[in-house]
Amino acid sequence: MQERLKELQAEAIQKAAEAASLKELNDIRVAYLGKKGPITEVLRGMGKLSAEERPVMGALANEVREAIAVKIEAKQTELEEAEVQAKLALETIDVTLPGRPVKVGNHHPLTKIIEEIEDLFIGMGYEVAEGPEVEQDYYNFEALNLPKGHPARDMQDSFYITEEILLRTHTSPVQARTMEKHQGKGPIKIICPGKVYRRDNDDATHSHQFMQIEGLVVGENIRMSDLKGTLEVFAKKMFGEDREIRLRPSFFPFTEPSVEMDISCKMCGGHGCNVCKQTGWIEILGAGMVHPNVLEMAGYDPKKYNGFAFGMGPERIAMLKYGIDDIRHFYTNDVRFLKQFAIEE
Ligand code: PHE
Repeated sequence: MQERLKELQAEAIQKAAEAASLKELNDIRVAYLGKKGPITEVLRGMGKLSAEERPVMGALANEVREAIAVKIEAKQTELEEAEVQAKLALETIDVTLPGRPVKVGNHHPLTKIIEEIEDLFIGMGYEVAEGPEVEQDYYNFEALNLPKGHPARDMQDSFYITEEILLRTHTSPVQARTMEKHQGKGPIKIICPGKVYRRDNDDATHSHQFMQIEGLVVGENIRMSDLKGTLEVFAKKMFGEDREIRLRPSFFPFTEPSVEMDISCKMCGGHGCNVCKQTGWIEILGAGMVHPNVLEMAGYDPKKYNGFAFGMGPERIAMLKYGIDDIRHFYTNDVRFLKQFAIEE
């Protein structure tokens, strides 16, 4: 019996040592130490032993059990440790691997142009103002000296929401709103960028939605030469010091006199080409001295106050500056187009 126990001990320890997994080890534990195991079997035969032999054999059986249990325990720790190590090895992060590139966006070309123009005017003491895109007929037309039935309203076919409410056709209503807010007291120096809407059919140079930047200065003794000087600074900063400007007489109901500003064509140096339609000049914006009626309607005394206003299209300016040939590129947002403007940031 003693021998059998020793044999079982050696056998169990051997098997435990060879166990390759925790599962296998557990099977060994159950097989040798379990109730149906060979040691229990041996102990069952103790009844046949003498009273002296019994305690000796009992002690030995316990020793054998203990030895096997200790071995299994040690092996279990070893296998568990190995398992952790294997898992760690599997999950090792190679910090020398190159990272996955993160796609970085860039500002939209129009945003860039608008911010550039804003910065330029802020540098000259202007503030940035805003107004609603869904506008009242009153601010979009009437307060700008365009009463109902005025023929100049035809120039801007509009998206009406009701009789009295429409999508603004220009940023000029912000002029009227700003003056009204100042309650007849100057001075005012604002620029106002924003979206405007017209019922145009979209093509290379027209879009039913586009941007404008409005400028308004109101004060005492503001002269046409102030307007010209301001626009000249703007044009040279925006397009280059070598550019000339010229003012042509024009008409807007809310300015008198009214002008349109052209800059000299850079492509041909003024000799005439496709870009300037053979004229040597490119039209950039509309401007003029604020009409006395507009001042008066907004609560300003036109005898004391006067001012100038201008309005330009950032798309057109961006198209000229970057050589973009179709206004629709700004709104179809092809990433290949937009990406080209990342370089300058
Ligand atoms: N609002 C005019 C337009 O949309 C532009 C403009 C603004 C002209 C201010 C003169 C003064 O065409």
